[in-house]
Amino acid sequence: NDYRIASIPGDGIGVDVTVEARKVLDAAAAKHGFSLAWNEFDWSCERYTKAGAMMPDDGVDQLAAFDGIFLGAVGFPGVPDHVSLWGLLIPLRRAFQQYVNLRPVRLLPGTTSVLAGRSAEELEMVIVRENSEGEYSAIGGRHNTGRPDEFVLQESVFTRVGVERIIRYAFELARTRSGRVTSATKSNGLIHSMPFWDEIFAEVAAGYPDVRAEQCHVDALAARMVQAPERLDVVVGSNLFGDILSDLAAAVTGGLGMAPSGNINPSGEYPSMFEAVHGSAPDIAGQGIANPVAQILAGAMMLEHLGETVAAQAIRTAVDEVLTAGTELTPDLGGTATTTRLGTAVTKALH
Ligand code: NAI
Ligand code: MG
Repeated sequence: NDYRIASIPGDGIGVDVTVEARKVLDAAAAKHGFSLAWNEFDWSCERYTKAGAMMPDDGVDQLAAFDGIFLGAVGFPGVPDHVSLWGLLIPLRRAFQQYVNLRPVRLLPGTTSVLAGRSAEELEMVIVRENSEGEYSAIGGRHNTGRPDEFVLQESVFTRVGVERIIRYAFELARTRSGRVTSATKSNGLIHSMPFWDEIFAEVAAGYPDVRAEQCHVDALAARMVQAPERLDVVVGSNLFGDILSDLAAAVTGGLGMAPSGNINPSGEYPSMFEAVHGSAPDIAGQGIANPVAQILAGAMMLEHLGETVAAQAIRTAVDEVLTAGTELTPDLGGTATTTRLGTAVTKALH
């Protein structure tokens, strides 16, 4: 089997970690009898500063026929973050109906959680974030008077179809895991959107009597993630809530350098896109010391999505082995290895 993959390394450490992840993915493919045909796209903030756009006008069309999209990270000092987000990530997520943002977290061997004493099992969870609507909306505006009466309006958009499909995805996922779903709400403060979300959550839950469903206000849920993570497994939230909770979940387990994510189009009609949760880390860009594990694990998620389950598991096992051995760790993990050395170690550890 041959898969066509569009690679968008982006900016900063996105470039460094993508190189290493591709190395690992190619090696895993060769061992498991398939190959990856990579096409590289230079879409980035760097392109924006030269050409005035993150990607060409027909960018979406150029990617539509690929089997998967592998994204590093975008973001560059001097280019406002809303430009990189709305000029590339959000248009791709929406055009390809990648309405699920999946962020599995687990405590990797050899790493310590800030939650001392918690076992890997207690910390294992997955955040299912709505990825196509909600609070990240361009609707609104600024009443730009420059006087004290100035104000802005920022609208959220929640559709019945959009809310139902993400919640249903979470319930289906829970059936393959612990059988527990927790929904993030805030119906006491957001009196239009969240009661609607809760109502649909209850409707969907009624169709899954075998799954334990509960809802929790997002502030209390954040506290629970730190104080009682063993009570969480599948956590479903809106675009904003899911975004915040998944960074928190990553931070309480192995840290940002270890957390992968997938922007999934469940129907398979369009390509799905895989990336690390972290950004372009301008503070360490160009030094060759970024941790490539998150990007490597994002690659494993991509292979899993393509149906190459055995190769995906082989990559996760190789990462675990290298982290357990502890001799090739990047500075964020307390070691002195470079990005390349850690990538090479994972490649060599593949069975
Ligand atoms: P960041 O994730 O880039 O960095 C936060 C901190 O974590 C930094 O101290 C960084 O050095 C460290 N870090 C992150 N990834 C690491 C890795 N793999 N190895 C070692 N250390 C790592 O978040 P920040 O600083 O808020 O954003 C920087 C830029 O990245 C911004 O322009 C932002 O918009 C962009 N960004 C892009 C994302 C994407 O492309 N999906 C996601 C998040 C941020
Ligand atoms: Mg985020």
